[in-house]
Amino acid sequence: MKIPHLVRKKHDERLVLHRLQETDHVAEFREAVRVGLGRSPKQISPKFFYDERGSQLFEAITRTEEYYPTRTEAALLTAHVEEIIDTAGEHMRLVELGSGSSTKTRVILDAIAARQKALEYIPIDISPTIVTEFGKQLLEDYPDLTIRGLICDYRHAMAELRQRDLPNKLFLFLGSSMGNFLPEDAVSLLRDIRATMNAHDYLLLGLDMVKEAQVLHRAYNDAAGVTAEFNLNLLARINRELGGEFNLAGFRHRAFYDAAQRRIEMHLESLANQIVPIAALGRSCSFKQGETIHTENSYKFDRHALDELFSGAGLRLTGQWFDPRRWFSLNLLAQA
Ligand code: AVI
Repeated sequence: MKIPHLVRKKHDERLVLHRLQETDHVAEFREAVRVGLGRSPKQISPKFFYDERGSQLFEAITRTEEYYPTRTEAALLTAHVEEIIDTAGEHMRLVELGSGSSTKTRVILDAIAARQKALEYIPIDISPTIVTEFGKQLLEDYPDLTIRGLICDYRHAMAELRQRDLPNKLFLFLGSSMGNFLPEDAVSLLRDIRATMNAHDYLLLGLDMVKEAQVLHRAYNDAAGVTAEFNLNLLARINRELGGEFNLAGFRHRAFYDAAQRRIEMHLESLANQIVPIAALGRSCSFKQGETIHTENSYKFDRHALDELFSGAGLRLTGQWFDPRRWFSLNLLAQA
């Protein structure tokens, strides 16, 4: 008789990280802040929100009553996961862009685990800590799971996966993270994913839909101020990592829906004329009262915009699901 815990592989064999990029995160952040605050209008990429504190705050946003995308997408996944797996086929391996969408990843892993014994999960993330922490929890719960994390940006990961040429991949890109890219960058990343797909591979893409402006406004201006803290954490991060002297009370969070561009814009607005020293840049940065730093775009999609995005990337829809209010979409895509 087999004794399961003796025959199972140890955790360290089942969780392997491949660091494909040596990134100096502080230098990268310093350069982005130097260039972004030197521009007019000032801007800093939303990818710099996610230091440890920022990631915690984002988790907290997903639990606010106003931020509907996470729970709407999770409910959609739970309702349709069997159909998704039916289409994607057998013996698949899961490749996730961004790791740690936790409960959503588990919904998919549960459905796959019920159908096939061995499970391979390839999370892609620039943070080894996030992949390791999330990975260890998963290994506890899925005894037949192997994790091969890629620690790099999405571009490097796609190049690596093209070289490996693994069959039966289901790519996951959830949470409307694609909506944080400018439309031309979204098409370009999707093309890169498409070029990494084989004929029997699929991409499950979660995208947030256009809806009443009031609902969108509330989602990015929650009453408890979590989104405001998330946005202002960018200035706190400049203080922590780059020796900045931002007084957070001198700025306010602003988020509004621009219907013409179909996007929420997030900004940090200076409440006064002020000059802020940033030691790592060896200079100060001046702000006029009312001037903003543009910190994020979050694009929302309608049917036409979805079709345009998919066809522009050479992808074809094989399944599409909406919640009853049509607030969020799950799109299952294959090569056109
Ligand atoms: C991660 N991303 C899809 C979120 C969004 O809704 O654009 C980030 C976020 N920004 C403010 N709230 C949430």
